[in-house]
Amino acid sequence: MQDNFPIRKVDHIRHYVGNARQSAFFYRSVFGFDQVAYHGLETGLKHEVDYLLVQNDVKLLFTAPVRPGHAIAEALAIHGDFVQDIAFEVDDVDWSYHEAVRRGAKSAREPFSLRNDDGEVRIASIHIYGDTIHTFINRDKFHGLFLPGFRERFEKGDPIGIQEIDHCVGNVELGQMNVWVKWYEDILGFKNLISFDDNDISTEFTSLMSKVMASGNGRVKFPINEPAPGKKKSQIDEYLEFFGGAGVQHVALRTDDIIETVQKLKSKGMEFLRVPKTYYEMLTDRVGEIDEDIEVLSELGILVDRDDEGYLLQIFTKPITDRPTLFYEIINRKGATSFGKGNFKALFESIEREQAVRGTL
Ligand code: FE2
Repeated sequence: MQDNFPIRKVDHIRHYVGNARQSAFFYRSVFGFDQVAYHGLETGLKHEVDYLLVQNDVKLLFTAPVRPGHAIAEALAIHGDFVQDIAFEVDDVDWSYHEAVRRGAKSAREPFSLRNDDGEVRIASIHIYGDTIHTFINRDKFHGLFLPGFRERFEKGDPIGIQEIDHCVGNVELGQMNVWVKWYEDILGFKNLISFDDNDISTEFTSLMSKVMASGNGRVKFPINEPAPGKKKSQIDEYLEFFGGAGVQHVALRTDDIIETVQKLKSKGMEFLRVPKTYYEMLTDRVGEIDEDIEVLSELGILVDRDDEGYLLQIFTKPITDRPTLFYEIINRKGATSFGKGNFKALFESIEREQAVRGTL
């Protein structure tokens, strides 16, 4: 398959937050990330601060405004803390930016360089749905820490086995899913891997539609969801209402040992969606033999699904902000390359129980 828009991988995910110091503390103490670097008032930034957290191949950047009237503060007033940038590492930032814009992308930042004694990093950005952007970044000529301007401010985390970003999911408004599917095809050369319609993903009350887009090299996977009409308000409608439009719904973090990862997260107080015990009574019939002890999976609430290539284990946190918006998935792939379609129904019924408690069903 020809790759007409080479992307190496997701470089980092940037969150806009109200208080980056506390977000850094949360991701370090709960998710076990190392806090690696800082850029702020003490290092020459005048209006915002950045904290970089790292665990294996996952880099998270937390940015907060430090003065009144900041543009970031205005975005935060609408959305609350949110994923603002899914940044890609590319071979050639200038080519990527100009080609994307030529194909119809809306510019967010024209190409520019950051430089210091450690070299040069080239950066440019384009808009996607809502207030979200994709940044193109190349640091082949840079041998310093993350980006020029950042200084080491190391605080060790207790790693929980997170290896890399598996996929990032966007929620868009009704009727917009195919618009963004076409956008990723036309502009970034992505392919539609899988589609789910409301027959696949529906419960008694709600339904949604989803298409999984993948980059040319297959390393970047972005499912895009839109609500489908149901008897009550779907989880996607709830997200759109509380977020104030389209945005990133969840980030899936891949681990090689989901039991250890989830045990550690639980010991730090992370809360997960629960499925009924009956889910596990039918599990072996549905997925066949697996390496893990079903008792342990049941205790932790870990879900299992199988496809033609193998099986996967997954679990979803409750929203990590006050608003029912961003949450995380922990996923452990044992050959399977799919996304857990067999779990959707059990999962959405679980989300609906949470919605009912919030009075938003
Ligand atoms: Fe997912």
